[in-house]
Amino acid sequence: MKVIYPGSFDPLTYGHIDIIKRLNDMFDEVVVAILKNEEKKSLFTLEEREEMIREVIKENDLDHVKIKSFDGLLVNFAKEENSKIIARGLRLVADYEYEKNIARINASLYDGLETIFLLANSNYSFISSSGVKEVASFKGDISPFVSKNVELKLKEKYKY
Ligand code: PNS
Repeated sequence: MKVIYPGSFDPLTYGHIDIIKRLNDMFDEVVVAILKNEEKKSLFTLEEREEMIREVIKENDLDHVKIKSFDGLLVNFAKEENSKIIARGLRLVADYEYEKNIARINASLYDGLETIFLLANSNYSFISSSGVKEVASFKGDISPFVSKNVELKLKEKYKY
């Protein structure tokens, strides 16, 4: 079975890494699908975000995981990939409220599509890419939230 794990990954956090590892153990194939974010401006380029994920795959021997990118509707990408399973991580009740709507919209656009939710590990349930960027923009310590290589990339962007 093949699952799609979509996101902006701008940047990749320990929370994302935890979900990717767990999906790797559960599915035959995991497609990490990076949103190209044309109008939603991202801090990191698509190539930089791909590189962050590639390093994690290599370091952890995640042999079921592939990286792809998409723009437009996620359901169209899922159709191209021949997969009807999307995975998302859930941290807070607020995530659930938001994700529930998106999952229903997606299911109405693609009959039979299932969105599965993995509860974020409690150690990571407060970590978000936007929070990490905010801390980094004020030159704070981001080492509890992201891997060493992502930390270095953030420090490069914010010059500290
Ligand atoms: O990491 P993010 O930013 O929470 O990921 C959000 C993502 C990429 C999963 C979501 O924005 C998405 O699927 N965007 C593509 C457009 C789409 O299909 N939207 C859902 C129907 S409203």
